[in-house]
Amino acid sequence: MQVCYTINELLSAVDKFKQEGKTIGLLPTMGALHQGHLSLARRAKEENDVLICSVFVNPIQFNNKEDLEKYPRDLESDIRMLEEIGCDVVFAPSAEEVYAEKPTIAYDFGALEQVLEGPCRPGHFNGVATIVHRLFNWSKADRAYFGEKDYQQIAIVKDLVRQYSIPIRIVECPVYRDEDGLATSSRNKRLSEQARKIAPKIHEILAKSKKMSTTLSCSQIKSFVESEFNMRKEFKLEYFEIVDAVTLQPIKQTSVKGAVGCVAVWLDGVRLIDIQKY
Ligand code: PAJ
Repeated sequence: MQVCYTINELLSAVDKFKQEGKTIGLLPTMGALHQGHLSLARRAKEENDVLICSVFVNPIQFNNKEDLEKYPRDLESDIRMLEEIGCDVVFAPSAEEVYAEKPTIAYDFGALEQVLEGPCRPGHFNGVATIVHRLFNWSKADRAYFGEKDYQQIAIVKDLVRQYSIPIRIVECPVYRDEDGLATSSRNKRLSEQARKIAPKIHEILAKSKKMSTTLSCSQIKSFVESEFNMRKEFKLEYFEIVDAVTLQPIKQTSVKGAVGCVAVWLDGVRLIDIQKY
C-alpha cells in the first residue's frame, strides 16, 4: 500500500493504474476510521481493481471551530486498518497541499441544502462539495463510495456529479451499526462511558417509529420521536424530519412509506446524526 501526501504523488499513482487499465474505487474520509468506514472500503475493494482512500480532515466544511479542533485524528491507526483490508493507496494530504489553489466555486444545491443539516451548518456542504470535487478530479475514480448515515451528503454529491458532468458512479452504502444499534461514527470516540451507554437509544427510538409507521401518520410519528428524545434530559434534539428520499423536502402526505427520517441530536456535547428508512 502506498501512502501519498501530495497531489502529484497521487496523480502519478492514478496514471499508472489507468495505464494498466484498472478500475478505481474512491473512498473519501476524514480519518479516525471505524468499522463503518471499513465496510465501505471492503465493498469498494470488491467492486474495483484498486482502492484509493483519502484521509483528510477538511477544515472548510467545519462551521464550528471547537468541532474541528476536537475532531479525532489517528493517521497511523488509519493506515494500519486500510493496509489490512488491502487498500492500494492512502491519500493523506495537508490542508496547505489541498488548498494551495484557493477554492473559487460557490456551489449551489438549491432546496437540497436548505433543509436538515443545511441551516444548522452554514457553509458545510459548500466545503464538502469543494473537497469531494477535487478528490474526484485527482483520483479519476470510476466509483466513489458514500454512507447513508450522511444521507443528505449523498444527495448533494449526486447533484454535484450531475451539475459538473463528472464521469463517476456514486455508490450508496447502508449505515453500519455497532451491535447495540449505535451508528458507528468518528465522533463516538468523544462520548463518555455513560453517554456511550445511552447513545443506542437514538436507533432504538427510530426503529420503534418504523414499527409504528404502518398505523401512524407522518405527524404522529414526528411527535412520537420528538417526545421520546425530549423526555430524556441527556439528549438535546436539534431536528427530526421525515423527508422525501430524493428531494429531501419534508413530505406532505400522511403515509411515510418510502420516506426517510433524519435526526440530529446532541449527547454529552457531541452532535450525532442517524437515519431511518420507512
Ligand atoms: P467521514 O465522516 O469520515 O465519513 C466518510 C464516509 O464514511 C462518508 O460517506 C460517511 O457517510 C461514511 N460513514 C461514516 N460512518 C458510517 C456508518 N456508520 N455507516 C456507513 N457509512 C458511514 O463524510 C465525510 O467524512 C466527509 O464529509 C467527506 C465526504 C470525507 C468530505 O470531507
